[in-house]
Amino acid sequence: MNIDGLKEFCGGDWVKVDARIRAALKSDIALLDSTNEMILSHSGKQLRPLLSLLVAKACSGDSVLPEDSIRVAAAAELLHNATLLHDDVADESDCRRGFPTLNSLMGPSVSVLVGDYWLVSSMNEIRSAEHFGPRLISIFSRTLTHLAEGEMLQLQKAQNGDTCEADYLRIIFSKTASLFEAAALAAAISVNSSPDFEEAVRQYAVSLGIAFQIRDDIFDYSGNTGVGKPTGVDILEQKITMPLLGAFENSTRDEELQIRKMVSEIHEHPEYAGQILDFVAEKNGMEYAEKRLGDYVNGALAAISRLPETRAGEYLGEMTYYVAKRDK
Ligand code: IPE
Ligand code: IPE
Ligand code: MG
Ligand code: MG
Repeated sequence: MNIDGLKEFCGGDWVKVDARIRAALKSDIALLDSTNEMILSHSGKQLRPLLSLLVAKACSGDSVLPEDSIRVAAAAELLHNATLLHDDVADESDCRRGFPTLNSLMGPSVSVLVGDYWLVSSMNEIRSAEHFGPRLISIFSRTLTHLAEGEMLQLQKAQNGDTCEADYLRIIFSKTASLFEAAALAAAISVNSSPDFEEAVRQYAVSLGIAFQIRDDIFDYSGNTGVGKPTGVDILEQKITMPLLGAFENSTRDEELQIRKMVSEIHEHPEYAGQILDFVAEKNGMEYAEKRLGDYVNGALAAISRLPETRAGEYLGEMTYYVAKRDK
């Protein structure tokens, strides 16, 4: 299954999400409007809005969706792009989706301002929901808190060099899985699901989001050049992610301390990066990360098995395998 198959299944609902996103971003400031058009012309995988639509359909027996489900899906993608516009400033990244970042083309101020604009457009979608508005607003505002906390905790841990697996999992829940959670839970609420279904969907999305970020962190060590963004950069930013944590699991305390010291000195010694990569390979860090990713995939599949059988539910299963195996 590829993403286009998921979009095809969502049919007219998908077309509505796309139209909502474009309408939400319209501005009479020509520079802002053309910048938004440029970003939209290199859209990414659009996984989060697809997650919203599939969840809403799975919780409502494959029905045509109410406008609130479309709003939630649009809000998830708008917010996701806002975080990327901010993230590329934080990470000083010059390439995303195979194209130069807005940060590299127009500078960090523009990237932050346009990111703010997308963020507010996302919140406007949620604010305009016809039903369950206060719940939807509180779900998305909690996610905004998590996103900011996740980025700050990541920075704090990079400075201290003491990231353990529990810290890493908290970071990736906050910076990535919390948005998957909001996209899915808000979608379930938009079709008036039962509390049991809401909880199943919430657990599914958190596991899916964590698996998604572990795969992303594996890419960073893979040397894969087709990802559409730089790889091999996490360690240069002193981010200790699952492949390195896995290597620590398979090494002595002394070896671990020595590598942690090298990570803390990497700004003065970028040549350490190669040695750290070799350490991860030698200590089977990638295999460990794949195994932990598999645990979250299984957790996600177990959670959706609690939903009634629908075609959308099957597609959620397909989405899980896609996230686990994706190559970009
Ligand atoms: C990138 O997310 C940011 C992470 C959470 C790793 P995606 O890989 O979903 O980005 P696009 O939207 O498809 O480019
Ligand atoms: C992803 O952070 C999560 C966000 C909130 C954007 P990363 O810095 O790991 O993501 P990429 O690798 O730039 O997509
Ligand atoms: Mg980042
Ligand atoms: Mg980044």
